[in-house]
Amino acid sequence: MVSGIILAGGSGTRLWPLSSSAKPKQFLNLFSDKSMLRETSERIADIVPMKHQYILTGEKYMPLVKEEFGETVNIMAEPQAKNTAPCILWAAFMIQKHSGGGVAVVMPSDHTIKNGRAFHAALDAAVGKAEQGHIVTFGIRPTRAETGYGYVEIETSEYQANQTVVKLVSFHEKPNQELAGHYLQAGNFLWNSGMFVFDIQTMIDEFQEYEPELYHLFAAIDPDNRAQVARAFEQAKNISIDYAVMEKTKKAYCIPSDFGWSDVGGYESLHEENEKDECGNVTDGNAIMEQSKDCYVNCQKPVVCVGLKDLVVVETEDAILVAQKDMSEQIGKIAKQLNVR
Ligand code: GDD
Ligand code: MG
Repeated sequence: MVSGIILAGGSGTRLWPLSSSAKPKQFLNLFSDKSMLRETSERIADIVPMKHQYILTGEKYMPLVKEEFGETVNIMAEPQAKNTAPCILWAAFMIQKHSGGGVAVVMPSDHTIKNGRAFHAALDAAVGKAEQGHIVTFGIRPTRAETGYGYVEIETSEYQANQTVVKLVSFHEKPNQELAGHYLQAGNFLWNSGMFVFDIQTMIDEFQEYEPELYHLFAAIDPDNRAQVARAFEQAKNISIDYAVMEKTKKAYCIPSDFGWSDVGGYESLHEENEKDECGNVTDGNAIMEQSKDCYVNCQKPVVCVGLKDLVVVETEDAILVAQKDMSEQIGKIAKQLNVR
């Protein structure tokens, strides 16, 4: 049996003001008439029926998830946001309690995947490998020296995308610029897509080995007991699964993948992944674009853009943003300062 752990607790500050603390990006319809969270759930539904999907989110987002999914999925509300390691471990114990273990697929809820068929082929291969007690990642060929991603080093650069399962030699979460440059040149380093497939018991064992404090906090409680869960989260350290387990485990494999993956981190990728007009602009149809190129425009009022290039113009009920498209980090920083997370 395969279970799904869908991560929906992030705040998506780099897409402010579209994404806000009241409604982060995973709850928005940024690419279709469905929210990214709904698209994620549907993406795996052939392999993981909805009743075996667990959506992990912050308590304050419970109503949004409930409104969208009702009782069709399992919803786990974290009392505190402590990054991805504590919540994945909690979900692993929850699945073990209710389904007796098996394989789990971890899916971030803020990615797009263009080629669903190729993704399914890769996911099938990953589930097969995970059943043998391994942790499987999906590696994406890097196109720039990105420092916001993890990198997986694989044994060989010869593989058939979406099918070959290769041993992972090492895992480097968010390298500095210089290292990222080396990895880009090397050929046998791929981006970690942030999706993981593993046998539940294997993942729990790896936590016991490499993060024993976290392991003991969650092993000691009933995963359904709210008060006990709140105490465990109170004491849990804030750490991602990448640092907690992936950089240390010796049980990791990778499926070099090519299924049109994108992490919708900021406005550049939002622009890249959406349909453009003949001048490269993404607009909501309401905007009048005059001699403007490669802009992202999403406003409630009709807006006139004249002579713009590579700009973002966004208007919501709360705020107006006019920025250069590649300044997502700065947008995120200001959004946090404004306390609008
Ligand atoms: N439920 C829950 N609780 N979800 C969380 C939490 C939390 O405390 N923190 C983050 N998430 C969700 C985010 O919403 C996102 O869907 C996913 O977990 C990953 O978190 P990010 O904060 O977006 O991680 P990242 O992008 O910096 O890095 C990860 O993803 C990259 C690819 O997108 C890493 O796995 C990198 O190695 C990887 O390259
Ligand atoms: Mg991310």
